[in-house]
Amino acid sequence: MTRETWATRMGFILAAVGSAVGLGNIWRFPWITAENGGSAFLAVYLGIVLLVGVPGLLGMFVVGRRAKRNPVGALRSLSGSDRWGLAGGFLVFSSLVLISFYSVVGGWILRYFGESVLGLVTGTVPYFANPGASFGAASAGLDAVAFHLVFLALTALIIVAGIRGGIELATKWMMPAIFALLVGLGVWASTQAGASEAYAFYLRFDTSVLRENFFGLLGPAAGQALFTLSLGVGTMITYASYLDEDRSLPFDGASVAVLNTVVGVLAGLVVFPLLFTLGIEPGETGTGAGALFVGLAGAFSQLPAGTFVATAFFAVVALAALSSAISILEISVSFLVDEHGLPRRRAAAVVGGLVAVTGSVCALEPSVFGFVAGTLVDILLTVGLTVCLVFVGWVMGRDALTEFRKGAGPVGRAVATPWLFGVGVVLPVFLVFTLLTTFGVDGE
Ligand code: PFF
Ligand code: NA
Repeated sequence: MTRETWATRMGFILAAVGSAVGLGNIWRFPWITAENGGSAFLAVYLGIVLLVGVPGLLGMFVVGRRAKRNPVGALRSLSGSDRWGLAGGFLVFSSLVLISFYSVVGGWILRYFGESVLGLVTGTVPYFANPGASFGAASAGLDAVAFHLVFLALTALIIVAGIRGGIELATKWMMPAIFALLVGLGVWASTQAGASEAYAFYLRFDTSVLRENFFGLLGPAAGQALFTLSLGVGTMITYASYLDEDRSLPFDGASVAVLNTVVGVLAGLVVFPLLFTLGIEPGETGTGAGALFVGLAGAFSQLPAGTFVATAFFAVVALAALSSAISILEISVSFLVDEHGLPRRRAAAVVGGLVAVTGSVCALEPSVFGFVAGTLVDILLTVGLTVCLVFVGWVMGRDALTEFRKGAGPVGRAVATPWLFGVGVVLPVFLVFTLLTTFGVDGE
């Protein structure tokens, strides 16, 4: 059977945006920005997206489009060595770790979405009464297992439907829906009493942060940039492996980075006005899961038309999480299809069965969840991306340049050589540096 491809270039871009836009933008990005000095942090973050994220993304696109294989097959066939196949295996392993916790959070979101919809019908939203206790009950235990399994099943179903009929079709509808809903929510949020105070907090340009703690910002900014652009587990290699036309990769990569950032900024413009309007201190309910589920749920419960807004908001988050989860699960599915000749349906069943178990462990054990989501994933992503970039720079070398230039415009062709140098030398050094400062020095 011939390997499937994207039907259109736009389909590829939207699928990649779907992968990028996820919990990272809507839940993590606004908080990290606000905590680290507002738009001053945003400036550092944008610099890293431009100088590290986009070149890294292009590295993954180059590997995938050249090899037209899953990460294991790609690294093996491009190098002619089984050792590099093992490095690809590390990526596939990391993707399974990542989806194990991601699917649990996806389950929480499905539950909140479901309860909000129910509220539209019955007039009472279960989590409105006591947001803190509701989140405690939803986040771990058998309920969390059940919703994780539903979320995982949805993800697997879309994957079973294939590249064009599943992933491409789904993300083509999901991405515009996310943008439209977020813009609508942002406009609505701007009419709330706390809006101007919130904007001042969110977008303040706190230069003292830059002067006093510039190096301290690099770690969080880099971590956020990798996670949000889906770098380091092989998703972008896999998605680019389904490209059959040689269009400009730099253009595609830049589009993904820009759209992804727009969603992150927009999410902040929705979240903070709500919290400020109700006098909920940002950070009071935590910056992680708590921020989204406790703080916002509390806000929704008190706002006019809160149930309606909650439904729209959790719809956005659910769509974003689902389109990212698809891209994570597809890595190991494509591995089983390409390398072991499994039919897609069987591959999805095998991977789904495995993640059903590993995700359930995360759903039952908060300590495992915390370690995986808070520490392990950051390390795996950074190591994975570093390995891939060294591969692009030192193993592919000239082939990478050739692939990069194919279909690129004059600007893309002009930056090809500096790009390869950056990817092979500067970025790996930078990534190892951030790994050491984040996990070495302050021992987090
Ligand atoms: N980019 C996703 C987010 O921001 O939520 C997370 C992610 C998806 C990371 C896919 C890595 C990945 F391969
Ligand atoms: Na993202």
